[in-house]
Amino acid sequence: MAGNDATNPPTPDSTGTEWWRHAVIYQVYPRSWADANGDGVGDLPGITAHLEHLRDLGVDALWISPFYRSPQNDHGYDVSDYQDIDPLFGTLEDADALVARAHELGLRLIVDLVPNHSSDQHAWFQAALASKPGSPERARYLFRDGKGPDGLEPPNNWQSVFGGSAWDRVAEHPDGDPDDPQWFLHLFDSSQPDFDWRNPEVGDMFEGVLRFWLDRGVDGFRVDVAHGLFKEESLRDQVRVEGQKGGASTGEDPHSMVERAELDEPMWDQPEVHEVYRRWHQVLAEYPGDRMMVAEAWTSSAESMARFVRPDEYQQTFNFAWLLASWSASDFADVVQHTFDALEPVGATPTWVLSNHDVIRHVTRYGGGTLGLARARAATMTMLALPGSAYLYQGEELGLEQVDVAPEHRTDPNWLRTKDTDEPEIGRDGCRVPMPWSGTSAPYGFGPGEGQPWLPQPSGWGSLTVAAQETDPESTLAFYRSVLTARRGLAGLTDSVKVTPVTGDVLTFTRGDLTVVLNCGSEPVELPAGEVVLASGPVDGPHLPADTAVWLRG
Ligand code: NOJ
Repeated sequence: MAGNDATNPPTPDSTGTEWWRHAVIYQVYPRSWADANGDGVGDLPGITAHLEHLRDLGVDALWISPFYRSPQNDHGYDVSDYQDIDPLFGTLEDADALVARAHELGLRLIVDLVPNHSSDQHAWFQAALASKPGSPERARYLFRDGKGPDGLEPPNNWQSVFGGSAWDRVAEHPDGDPDDPQWFLHLFDSSQPDFDWRNPEVGDMFEGVLRFWLDRGVDGFRVDVAHGLFKEESLRDQVRVEGQKGGASTGEDPHSMVERAELDEPMWDQPEVHEVYRRWHQVLAEYPGDRMMVAEAWTSSAESMARFVRPDEYQQTFNFAWLLASWSASDFADVVQHTFDALEPVGATPTWVLSNHDVIRHVTRYGGGTLGLARARAATMTMLALPGSAYLYQGEELGLEQVDVAPEHRTDPNWLRTKDTDEPEIGRDGCRVPMPWSGTSAPYGFGPGEGQPWLPQPSGWGSLTVAAQETDPESTLAFYRSVLTARRGLAGLTDSVKVTPVTGDVLTFTRGDLTVVLNCGSEPVELPAGEVVLASGPVDGPHLPADTAVWLRG
């Protein structure tokens, strides 16, 4: 296992091969991590200045959400130039300095790649708007004629993941010709037009983007909407069922994984995407240092997840089933079992994740307050004992909860597109509130200024800051540090996990001489034999209290 030793940090190229298989990777949402220039928005120099926090936490790598040039309608997931940094975040020199400093500290660095769509401000889309239907410029995106009289109805019935139709008329685009007869597809915001990946120019462009960042020394890519690049060629109507939302990309679809497998989804998970990833695999393999890529693919089953990590495709894919599981021992057990059953045949190791910038923070999902925090710690400790790689989301090491952001401060296109409809969606701002580093009032050391950053921080975060928790051995931060230290001691253990059939509401699995027990029930349960090496909360003699996990050895 690749791990950091704070006293003797490995250089990223000296930690052996396939470092990613068991790496702990920390997600930084750049708007909200640290603000060096005091404009209220995080930036690259801010990240560089705070990297010691990650070294001290004991993670192996960081993944940074997009920092490219972008109008920021979806906070960087709407890219207008893939080979430049948005001035909001800094410069290419700042990016180089960040990569260099991360490597000095023994941290690898993964950047976010957004290949499904660009911003409508991208030069290609602007050229497409300025060109005629049928032109080569339009052929890089999905422009189609409308249906119905005068083509005034969208080409098909697809819904945007963020609400409303997935099609907009060129005539209604601020930069479009008011007489233009065509529509364009956007599975997300109308400012995020989808590329047509059947056009080879698109693949060639992205190969250039990969090489641009690989040449700058990044260790890998997190690939956005990896299951979305190709759409069924006919662009036929979707057969929709009651309550079905636009898509499977932000974890907000109300259907369970099992139900989703039954749904008709001509826009997701088409077989052609895998050709792209085989090509990218080859590109990465040309570079030294074991570069990797991880797919953000909201697939509908463990089997379809496994297709992304066949030996000549991705190194990793997010295993969102773990994050979607309810607080239930049998649900957790099913996910663990299905994950290993599906990945074993392709030789991949799993990933585990509980939070990211698109979902409700897990402390809140598990009930909030003391209960939510106890469960969150227990689930995290359980996850970190499983073989494979784990992803942490900024602020979870502080036990942060989802913030109830007031409507006037919300910025998520998911909210902006639905707020005036019958089904408003609150959006994802609540998990993106800037990090509290120190002090007792906003901006809690997030930036040098005074007052609130781009999303207001709650009063009462003073006890949750990094500075406050660093000196408290009982804090969530101290807990994360000790779990990550103890995890290094699991490096020699087998990758084979045996899940005990669930009785009651207790998850038990073994990995070599390690036994992990998670009590999801409401009563204490008797502990199996073994020495408790780590517990997520107080353990009462031979009993494991509710909402608590332990690691036992021997
Ligand atoms: C998934 C990203 O994680 C999310 O934040 C974004 O809005 C969509 N993809 C669209 O790029």
